[in-house]
Amino acid sequence: MSIERIVSGESVGFEEEREQLSLRPKTLKEYIGQSQLKENLSIALEAAKKRSEPVDHILFHGPPGLGKTTLAHIIANEMGSELVTTSGPSLQQPTDLLGILTNLSEGDILFIDEIHRLSTVIEEYLYPAMEDFEIDFVVDKGAFAKTIKIPLKRFTLVGATTRAGFLSAPLRDRFGLFQHLDFYEPADLATIVSRSAGILKVEIDDQGSDEIATRSRGTPRVANRLLRRVRDYAQVKADGRINSKVAQQSLKMEGVDELGLDDLDRKYLRTIIEFYRGGPVGIDAIGATLNEESETLEDLVEPYLLKIGFLQRTSRGRCAGPRAWEHLGMSPPEAREAEGPTLFDS
Ligand code: ADE
Repeated sequence: MSIERIVSGESVGFEEEREQLSLRPKTLKEYIGQSQLKENLSIALEAAKKRSEPVDHILFHGPPGLGKTTLAHIIANEMGSELVTTSGPSLQQPTDLLGILTNLSEGDILFIDEIHRLSTVIEEYLYPAMEDFEIDFVVDKGAFAKTIKIPLKRFTLVGATTRAGFLSAPLRDRFGLFQHLDFYEPADLATIVSRSAGILKVEIDDQGSDEIATRSRGTPRVANRLLRRVRDYAQVKADGRINSKVAQQSLKMEGVDELGLDDLDRKYLRTIIEFYRGGPVGIDAIGATLNEESETLEDLVEPYLLKIGFLQRTSRGRCAGPRAWEHLGMSPPEAREAEGPTLFDS
C-alpha cells in the first residue's frame, strides 16, 4: 500500500514524476551528496569507457526517494547509452522479461526498480542473462522439453531495492557493484534545495533552504516536494520569495514539524509510547493499532525514525528512544521514575 504523505520518500504520481524529472541532475558532477558512492561509480564508469565495455551490473539499495532512479539515468547518460526502465512487480510473465532483454542494444542500461519483488521464475531467467548474456528458453513440455539458448547484446542491469535483505543470494552475487544510499546530510539537502529553486526560478535565501532541508528527513524527493509547496505559499501569502519564516509557516500548515515528522510519524510514536509503554512491541501490533500495513511502516516510517534515534529495533520489538518521548512533550521512563508515579504506574 502506498499512502499519500508530503514527507514520503515514495513518488506520488505522474505529475510529480514529471516535475522531478526537470530537477534531476543529468551528470555525476551535478549530483549532490553520496560522495563515496559517486567516487565508486565514477571509477567504474571511467574504466568501462576506457575498455569500451558496458559497465558491470549495479545494485542500489536504500530507502525510497534518495536517487536510485536518478542514478540509473545518470549512468545511461554518462555511458552515452539508452535506458530501458521496468520494475519487479510489472514483470509478471517470463515473456515480459524476454521481450525486454531481446530488444536491448549493445551497452543499453536495463533499470529494474523494486527488484526484490521479482518472482523466482523470472529471477532464474535473469541469471544467465546477467552472467553470460544469453537466455535459456525452454520450449515444449515434459519429455520433449528442450532448452534453446538465445544470445543477448551485452547490457548493464541496474537494480534498485529498498530491501536488499529480500534479494536471493544468487541474484545478489551477480551484481559487480553493490552500492548503499544513505540519508543525505542537511547541508547537502540545502544545496539541493537551492539548486532546485534556481531551476524553478524561485528566489530563496540560505535560511529558507536550511529550513526546508532540515524538515526533509534526509530525502531529496521530499526536499523538492516541500520546496514546491513553500513556493506556492510564498506566492499567495508573501511576496513570492522564500525565507525561513515563510518556509516555517508553510510547512507548519502542512503538518510537517521542525524535524520533518508528520502526523503518521507522530501517531506511530504515540502508539508505542501510550499503548505499549514505550515498547518493546512487535511491528504487527503497531500496524494493527494504527490500521496500517506493517510493510508500509517498515519502509516509509521507521527508517528515518531509526536514523534520528527516535526508534530502536531490538530482538524483542520496537522501542521509542528517549528523544522521541521528549519530542512529543513527555518524559522518558528513567526521568519518570525520578519524578514519581505516572499514568502508567497506577
Ligand atoms: N535533485 C534530487 N536529488 C539530487 C541530487 N542528489 N543532487 C542534485 N539535485 C538533486
